Amino acid sequence: MFSLKRAIYLASILAIPATCAPSSHSKNASYVSTLPKNSQILFRESMDWLDGFYDPAAGYLFDESSATALRHETRSSAWYAVGLLARNEHDDVKNALQIITNVIEGQYKETKDQWYGDYQKEPEEPTVGTAAYPENIYNSWDPNWRGFISTCFIVGLEEFGHLITPEVTSLMEKSLYNATRGDEYRVGGVDDDNLYPAYTNPSLMRAFVSGWTGRRLNDSNMTISGENYATAVIDLFNRANTLSEFNSGTYTGVSLYALILWAKYLPDDSVMKHNGARMIQCTWEAVAQLWHPQLKNVAGPWDRSYGFDMNRYLSLLALHLWNVIGKEKSSIIPKTAAMSHVADWAYGPQFAILSAFHSTLIPAAVVEKLNNFQGEHTFTSSAFSPPFDIYPRNITAWLAPNVSIGAETFNETTIGGPAINPGTFNPAIIQWNTGDEVGYITWYATEHALTAVASPNSLNLTYPYGTAKSIFSIIVGTFKKTRDVSSWDDVQGLSVKVSGNVNMTFLLGFAGENGGAYSTINDFEFWNFTYTMPTGFVGTPNLVFDVELK
Ligand SMILES: *[C@@H]1O[C@H](CO)[C@@H](O)[C@H](O)[C@H]1NC(C)=O
Ligand SMILES: *[C@@H]1O[C@H](CO)[C@@H](O)[C@H](O)[C@H]1NC(C)=O
Ligand SMILES: *[C@@H]1O[C@H](CO)[C@@H](O)[C@H](O)[C@H]1NC(C)=O
Ligand SMILES: *[C@@H]1O[C@H](CO)[C@@H](O)[C@H](O)[C@H]1NC(C)=O
Ligand SMILES: *[C@@H]1O[C@H](CO)[C@@H](O)[C@H](O)[C@H]1NC(C)=O
Ligand SMILES: *[C@@H]1O[C@H](CO)[C@@H](O)[C@H](O)[C@H]1NC(C)=O
Ligand SMILES: *[C@@H]1O[C@H](CO)[C@@H](O)[C@H](O)[C@H]1NC(C)=O
Ligand SMILES: *[C@@H]1O[C@H](CO)[C@@H](O)[C@H](O)[C@H]1NC(C)=O
Ligand SMILES: *[C@@H]1O[C@H](CO)[C@@H](O)[C@H](O)[C@H]1NC(C)=O
Ligand SMILES: *[C@@H]1O[C@H](CO)[C@@H](O)[C@H](O)[C@H]1NC(C)=O
Repeated sequence: MFSLKRAIYLASILAIPATCAPSSHSKNASYVSTLPKNSQILFRESMDWLDGFYDPAAGYLFDESSATALRHETRSSAWYAVGLLARNEHDDVKNALQIITNVIEGQYKETKDQWYGDYQKEPEEPTVGTAAYPENIYNSWDPNWRGFISTCFIVGLEEFGHLITPEVTSLMEKSLYNATRGDEYRVGGVDDDNLYPAYTNPSLMRAFVSGWTGRRLNDSNMTISGENYATAVIDLFNRANTLSEFNSGTYTGVSLYALILWAKYLPDDSVMKHNGARMIQCTWEAVAQLWHPQLKNVAGPWDRSYGFDMNRYLSLLALHLWNVIGKEKSSIIPKTAAMSHVADWAYGPQFAILSAFHSTLIPAAVVEKLNNFQGEHTFTSSAFSPPFDIYPRNITAWLAPNVSIGAETFNETTIGGPAINPGTFNPAIIQWNTGDEVGYITWYATEHALTAVASPNSLNLTYPYGTAKSIFSIIVGTFKKTRDVSSWDDVQGLSVKVSGNVNMTFLLGFAGENGGAYSTINDFEFWNFTYTMPTGFVGTPNLVFDVELK
């Protein structure tokens, strides 16, 4: 739908009069103006925001999460460079090449190091592996940044290779070669690494970069290595046509991005080319069942999430939705920069660049379901993340007007999902429209196994390995109309009935940014309702929520 409001808005962000007279720099604007309409808006808005962080003196972006005393940030700088190549106005190309050169200069070059071929996180940091700055995976260095940055170099070379000088092209090829070699050091379970094929988003990127770079540099071992790794990921996917890292506002977005690269940039002799489009389609079909257009959230369960309401944190899946159904229907709010996890907006230019191709792989029936709530329905599926899952996780979800419940049953070797992070693992969650915003009731992981089933108006949680010492900690959002919560009756917009074999006298505390008994999770404040088991309890701990919109 092209409204007048949007036309004026578009004109204002393109800085051209509403009459659409050609601008003085329309010559190079041609690439961006060929993008689909929604993607042009995503591209322009994300680039305008990123421009505000660009530090020409350094040839890097300042860290866009702010609060970093003007340190710079490598990954978003690389992503921005691709946006600059696409925009190609004034000094954009020159700046892009400068950023790329800087990022590669900061790439680790010692083959003996576990972080070989990875990119430094910020140019200010000391050398990883020195006494002052010891190697600490996912902290002083992040193994996934090889994939995040090298995939973006490939997008740059594929789409805008004609703008990149031969010197920088050759540098990028060398950088890709080293990043691929270093990524080969990664073996799940060895040296604190966790890259198993089930760790979907970096696995998809690894396979792609290796397959692409091997072909580009005529290194058939590298090509085969990528193809083999891809095959392991595909085998896992084919079990139930689901990504192992299932239903994550952020990481489903990365996985779709990587699968687009599989489908777009690899030749017919690649298993990635063969399977990428189908995997994208199946993934969107699951998203279409779980996306609640009225709540603007995907229903649970979420394997990894950076918040409890997608309208309040910026998710990468929402950036794809922006391309497909437009910003207003996605969970991105108009004042985007105010959202939590906003640094991921730096992915906007690349998602916009890839969106025309991506759109060809999303079925029309899916787009319809993303646009308009299809009515009450249930969804069942399963996902599998070996070696953490002892058996596949069974997924159930129920969506009805203004409410959703999603859950998964699992038995894992860790508490908090394969990422061992209870703050991001949300295997059982209820969301609803409180009348003011989206409310949430979510189980906080304290057990390695849970039987969790969502059904109409009900969420049933059981601990197969629970004991008298087990607890059920339930995280509940804050409410505009009830600042001081003391019981379930205070929950806004939803009547909540609790039953089961727990001691019904719960502990209740607040997790606030500025006070309270507990700490916020991913910036979200919440109430913590915790149930214990009755003294001398014997049996299987169980807690059931029966809910109804008020
Ligand atoms: C167009 O792009 C070229 C580089 O490709 C650049 O030299 C030139 O300044 C750009 N023109 C404008 C008006 O931005
Ligand atoms: C790639 O790694 C080699 C060591 O194997 C190093 O000499 C070279 O400088 C690295 N290249 C880049 C672009 O970082
Ligand atoms: C790879 O092989 C092709 C075809 O034989 C050749 O044109 C190309 O220059 C080679 N590239 C490299 C980096 O060796
Ligand atoms: C590929 O691997 C084989 C066996 O390890 C080795 O002999 C060969 O030199 C490798 N080729 C390249 C291009 O690295
Ligand atoms: C998962 O669901 C399948 C199909 O309904 C069922 O056969 C299996 O027993 C379930 N597994 C668990 C662990 O609940
Ligand atoms: C659940 O996982 C544990 C290991 O975490 C394992 O010992 C146990 O056998 C598993 N139970 C089932 C039913 O698979
Ligand atoms: C859903 O929420 C909207 C907005 O608050 C409201 O207008 C509508 O009546 C609600 N529908 C149901 C079924 O509760
Ligand atoms: C909840 O699930 C447990 C375990 O599957 C089951 O025994 C119990 O009957 C269920 N309770 C309700 C109210 O459905
Ligand atoms: C919730 O409260 C319980 C009981 O006080 C506490 O042990 C637990 O750490 C709290 N959890 C969170 C996530 O705040
Ligand atoms: C339930 O918890 C309350 C508060 O801690 C306690 O006073 C009571 O004895 C407990 N009841 C049982 C049966 O454990």
